[in-house]
Amino acid sequence: MNMILLGAPGAGKGTQAELLAEKLSIPTISTGAMLRAAIRKGTELGKKAKELIDRGQLVSDDVMIGMISERLKEEDCQNGFILDGFPRTIAQAEALDGLGIKIDLALSFDAPDEVIIKRLGGRRECPKCGATFHVDNKPSANGDFCDKCNAELKTRDDDKEETIKKRLQVYYAQSAPLKEYYGEKGVLKEISADQPLDVITAQAFAVVGAN
Ligand code: AP5
Repeated sequence: MNMILLGAPGAGKGTQAELLAEKLSIPTISTGAMLRAAIRKGTELGKKAKELIDRGQLVSDDVMIGMISERLKEEDCQNGFILDGFPRTIAQAEALDGLGIKIDLALSFDAPDEVIIKRLGGRRECPKCGATFHVDNKPSANGDFCDKCNAELKTRDDDKEETIKKRLQVYYAQSAPLKEYYGEKGVLKEISADQPLDVITAQAFAVVGAN
């Protein structure tokens, strides 16, 4: 199954992507995680991306399309994949179509802005391995340290309230129209992201027929 996850920042795409990937035994490809890995490595792309991400702006379509078209050629994607954070603009969706890649399911998660802002305030990330936690909803078993690699957990630079508001504006202007794009193709399914994590997971598994 070739699947994409749509939804506002903090709706829970990354969290559900990991669970779906494990359940379906297909890789999850997160463009946000790929960019943060480039930032950690200090590459040229990472430096440029950091400036944009910290301001709540999108990285250019050309860069993102190039990154994803290379990644999707890899062997592990040949039996399906979950795209988390791509496409994020209509131009990116058209580029995916242009690669001859058929999307079987576009799963959209949405929650009110006030839920998103509160939720992202509690997110913590491991700066070493990229694992994501939440102080209330998904705490690390190791307190303020990553329970996978022991590094001290941090708040993402783009999870400051002002940046979250900017990211939401960018989402409504540039990414929300993707729902209509995939709705017209007949592959859109929507799940409310304003529910407990395990309820959303159960609904997502039901949509993909993996109960
Ligand atoms: P990216 O990392 O993709 O950020 P995003 O889309 O803003 O999404 P988030 O990672 O913030 O949230 P999420 O929906 O994955 O939520 P999560 O599961 O973590 O991209 C970052 C930046 O990179 C972008 O702003 C842009 O600049 C750039 N970029 C990336 N892709 C791009 C592209 N294609 N084109 C151009 N630029 C691109 O959950 C959030 C928190 O809530 C976690 O702590 C989690 O534990 C918790 N949680 C999850 N679900 C629930 C629930 N149901 N109840 C309570 N808590 C929950």
